[in-house]
Amino acid sequence: MHINRIAGIVLAGGTGTRLAPTTRVVNKHLLPIYDRPAISFSLDVMRDCGAETVVIVGNAADVTTYSSIHDWLGYQDLPIRTVVQERPDGVAGAIACGHRQFRGTDFNRFIVMLGDTLYIGPTDWTREVVDRVRGHGASVAVTEHPNPRDFGVVDCAADRSVLQVREKVPADGPRLVCTGLYGFDDTLGDRLQAITPSRRGELEVTSLLNSYVTDSTLTAVTIPQCVEWFDIGTPDRLLDASMTYRTKVHRRSGTSFETIGAH
Ligand code: TTP
Repeated sequence: MHINRIAGIVLAGGTGTRLAPTTRVVNKHLLPIYDRPAISFSLDVMRDCGAETVVIVGNAADVTTYSSIHDWLGYQDLPIRTVVQERPDGVAGAIACGHRQFRGTDFNRFIVMLGDTLYIGPTDWTREVVDRVRGHGASVAVTEHPNPRDFGVVDCAADRSVLQVREKVPADGPRLVCTGLYGFDDTLGDRLQAITPSRRGELEVTSLLNSYVTDSTLTAVTIPQCVEWFDIGTPDRLLDASMTYRTKVHRRSGTSFETIGAH
């Protein structure tokens, strides 16, 4: 058996309510970050983490567009498939949809990224997220955030093992928050099956992470200071991401739509 096969799962479904009315006609993950679609940032991470293949999870209306991503974004060296999430039943529901594509294969590590997440800056550090799950366990990319209320908050021990992950923690100062990139071992499928819907009726990624916390096998990877993290879930954050990308990356290196995926 191969012991080091990494598969990628990019989550690009959901409803995008906070970006309505735009998202009634265009999926959030196809919106531009300056000159490139948001989903291309996750695909860059997948490639840089060493994923052999990627599944994009999406709504029925968008998977045809996602399936032709090779043609319009040029990720020829990265096999990409798509799968429909029948209804937006939560982030863990979307992960389960993607993971089902690998049942019966010998992929034994999974890198999962929210498709509305962007890391602006170098991406080599993301490799550590998958390296931490060598053997067993899971990892989560975190950063300190001054207003953590909208995010999953992570409590860590000094050695970066995670003690607890919570949602909607009252904002009482900066805290470590989940940024939307995760590494999982091959117990992922069993753990997903054991999750039940939360009070708001969704299969939550927090429940999945806490399943690893219970076994003391979740660790946090802090994103480097030279990297800026964005979740483009609101109009302000989408605009901030575009402005930062234009200022920090595009102007400096001349990165353009034509060069995405050309590695
Ligand atoms: P969210 O931003 O939590 O949800 P959303 O995209 O539906 O937006 P809103 O809250 O404004 O309605 O989703 C985080 C990421 O996970 C995003 O990239 C979409 C993806 N996702 C799925 O793929 N399937 C789902 O069922 C959900 C809820 C999210």
